Amino acid sequence: MDELRIRGGHRLQGTVSVSGAKNAALPIMAATLAIPGRTILHNFPRLRDTNSMIQLLTQFGVAVEFLDDHTIALESSAVSTCRADYELVRTMRASVCVLGPLLASQGEACVSLPGGCNIGHRPIDLHLKGLSALGAEIVIDQGYIHASARELRGAEIYLSGPQGSTVTGTCNVMSAAVLSRGRTIIQAAACEPEVIDLGNFLNACGAQITGLGTSTLTIDGVRELQAVEYTIIPDRIEAATWMMAAGITDGDLTIEGVRDDHLTAAIETLRTAGLAIDLQDETARVRRAGDLQPLDVVALPFPGFPTDLQAQLTAMMCLASGTSVVTDRVFPDRFLHAAELLRMGAKIRRESSGVIIEGVNELSGACVMASDLRASAALVLAGLAARGETVISRIYHLDRGYEDLAGKLSRLDADVERQKGGRPNTPQFAGAPTPSASKTSSKG
Ligand code: EPZ
Repeated sequence: MDELRIRGGHRLQGTVSVSGAKNAALPIMAATLAIPGRTILHNFPRLRDTNSMIQLLTQFGVAVEFLDDHTIALESSAVSTCRADYELVRTMRASVCVLGPLLASQGEACVSLPGGCNIGHRPIDLHLKGLSALGAEIVIDQGYIHASARELRGAEIYLSGPQGSTVTGTCNVMSAAVLSRGRTIIQAAACEPEVIDLGNFLNACGAQITGLGTSTLTIDGVRELQAVEYTIIPDRIEAATWMMAAGITDGDLTIEGVRDDHLTAAIETLRTAGLAIDLQDETARVRRAGDLQPLDVVALPFPGFPTDLQAQLTAMMCLASGTSVVTDRVFPDRFLHAAELLRMGAKIRRESSGVIIEGVNELSGACVMASDLRASAALVLAGLAARGETVISRIYHLDRGYEDLAGKLSRLDADVERQKGGRPNTPQFAGAPTPSASKTSSKG
């Protein structure tokens, strides 16, 4: 498995462009299963996860072609149903987003249940509740979801669970409702920019969705959708990760592709933490305005501070001049990065659904292991600031959501090297138990 070697202590300088949003691209790609013809997507992010989705769609008969590095064409005139197998779904939970479009266009779908995840308990009961409300018959058998519907009919659906709204659940139900007979009202819908982007894409294809960006979506079903050309929004999580890279290294970064309306809470939080963030059109210049200040932050559904930035913020707060509290109300267990940061000299204590972080003067490089996508980003940030060398293993997690991260970092004066097939994650002593291969895998 590849490793990332970072020699810390270099201030990041220069300009970096943000790629297209992973969490908008994935449901939009899935939606093309219900859109006959040739959809063209611009600003397409080249990621492990979008590649997995290409593999899955190809299995369903979609013809995929790259028109250039970041433009993809998806020809969906010959879609046939088949199974979304466990092997693929367990590595990428967003595979479940094919359920809605397949039900709407083929009248049936068979998708593996996603299984466990390193960031916490991630059921899909709300997805199934919403699709059932539209008239789908759902049977769970031998780890697979067998869904069928002769006809989908509009319904009023309340789509919230104990941790609030569901992003991909809203995407799944919306993608089915647009081709259902009659009107669907989704109450407690997710408001994330990626959900809005899917809705805008579907409307461009002829759907009739109103209320995007609010918690109530009204969808009047249409008979069919037309394939279009569409440009995916920039990835707000990558953008804010770069902001924190500037903050933790006391650097000076110009970040292209920043939608401030997608990052209101994050930008306010980072400014409170002591970052100077100057926004001009869709470009942000980010420097430190002094010492990093401690924070008390709670990760919430949009428009709150994003859970996908929680790990990165936790890493940056390790170097704040005081004690911070970071809580995650979306994924209360999303703190596997804390144990690895402790190995780098951080002072972090786990509390009920969060951590208490006592700022230290410096972190020290160490061998650490990535556990999920955003935890990996947190370890990269810590390694960039740490004294000495940090070696991060299992960086396939990073590849799921950050395009060419090592290359982008190198162009910003970071001392980073990606090593092919690094040494085994744990030293092999005579008689030591052989670590089980890829025991942990998270799905993001
Ligand atoms: C999406 O996951 C994102 N992934 C995640 O990003 C992100 O962390 C998450 O939304 C929250 O913003 C994609 O969009 C592909 P949820 P999703 O359904 O849709 C509970 C990354 O790093 N819930 O909004 O799976 C759930 O357990 C990834 O890019 C139910 O109870 O998240 C969680 O506590 C990681 N029942 C909360 O809701 C359900 O049926 C929010 O989950 C569905 C969810």
